Amino acid sequence: MKIIIADYLYIDGNFVENLAIAFESRIEAVDLPENLIARYPEAELIRAKPYTVIYPGFINTHVHLEFSANRTSLKYGDFMPWLDSVIEHRDDLLQACDNEMMSQECNQMLRSGITCFGAISSFGTELEVCENTPQRVVFFNELIGSNAQYADMLYNDFLERVKASQSCDNQSRITPGIAIHSPYSVHPVILQRAVTLAKQHAMPLTTHFLESQAEREWLEKGSGEFKAFFEKFFNTSTPVTNIEEFLHAFDTYPAHFVHCVQANEAELAHLKAKGHTVAHCPRSNRYLGCGRLALESLEALELPYTVATDGLSSNDSLNIFDEFRAALMLHHKAPVDLLARKLIKASTEDAAKALRLNNGSLKVGKDADFALVTLPELPKRPEEIALWTLLHTKEADAVYIEGEQYV
Ligand code: BEZ
Ligand code: FE2
Repeated sequence: MKIIIADYLYIDGNFVENLAIAFESRIEAVDLPENLIARYPEAELIRAKPYTVIYPGFINTHVHLEFSANRTSLKYGDFMPWLDSVIEHRDDLLQACDNEMMSQECNQMLRSGITCFGAISSFGTELEVCENTPQRVVFFNELIGSNAQYADMLYNDFLERVKASQSCDNQSRITPGIAIHSPYSVHPVILQRAVTLAKQHAMPLTTHFLESQAEREWLEKGSGEFKAFFEKFFNTSTPVTNIEEFLHAFDTYPAHFVHCVQANEAELAHLKAKGHTVAHCPRSNRYLGCGRLALESLEALELPYTVATDGLSSNDSLNIFDEFRAALMLHHKAPVDLLARKLIKASTEDAAKALRLNNGSLKVGKDADFALVTLPELPKRPEEIALWTLLHTKEADAVYIEGEQYV
């Protein structure tokens, strides 16, 4: 048993003073330090530095490790030129991305306090890295393929990858999951099979959804920049599905919808009604010219959201604090302190629910995953701790996963 004592614990959105946590691989008790010491006299005592806040480990719900080699290959600014550049450079980028590079990125996430992430896997090449990284990983095997002719073959390849992620070493902290690439790139027949599979195995399920204006136009009208893209690369000029049909495929099983920047109020309301959640990727959306997710609309609907870095294919780092600060800038009309609080809740408690995990809060029975953040001085107003955390933190001071310290 270990007991950790810090100036502040982040519990239920509040910064509570004078409490400590007793833990092994899970949280055993949260109480006054003297009570815990009396109850567990043999426990190892850990005293955090002054002005430290214990947060549940941060959860990055959506990242593509396989594209970690990108620095300047991909064209930022607009979605379609970016997608064209992905097709052009994909093979080179995958070739350049080895296990060492991906491990380094996992480590960067870890140092920023990310104890858990959702890895979108197109090819399964990062499975070994995810097995060996200390973090919990929801390994989202991605299904792609809009052409009915190749659908069975692509589905079978996807099934093989799902099976590989289901038979990982017990030492790893992998949860197998399913990712649907997007409405424009997955044929409705295999989409339905994959959703059914996720439901049968109670696996976390995710999908990119309405990321760009071009995607919306293609799905609604069969026109716009995607038309030229599909004519050029797939020899077709009509979409295989529409927004409504795609959304309804998920009606019986809650999923995590990534981006949703171009979703309208009715679609967001539908996500809420069916128990879905949204992943917000502020830097990716900004860099690819996709627009701003109207967080205020999600909040009005009480539609839960998480914060995610996406991959280095549309970002400059996988540091969750860089992402938080970008969100503070992107949503420039939101009260800054309130937004800081919401972003922290989004990346802990709400993210754990979205990925169906037993972490994300400092409560008895939850996984002992912590990110310790040391503030530069005693905060003058405790109610602003969330904001000072986001503004002053580049890396966590210490990181625990399943009760073990890794940073
Ligand atoms: C498709 O299979 O339709 C597809 C694959 C990659 C990008 C876009 C579409
Ligand atoms: Fe993504």
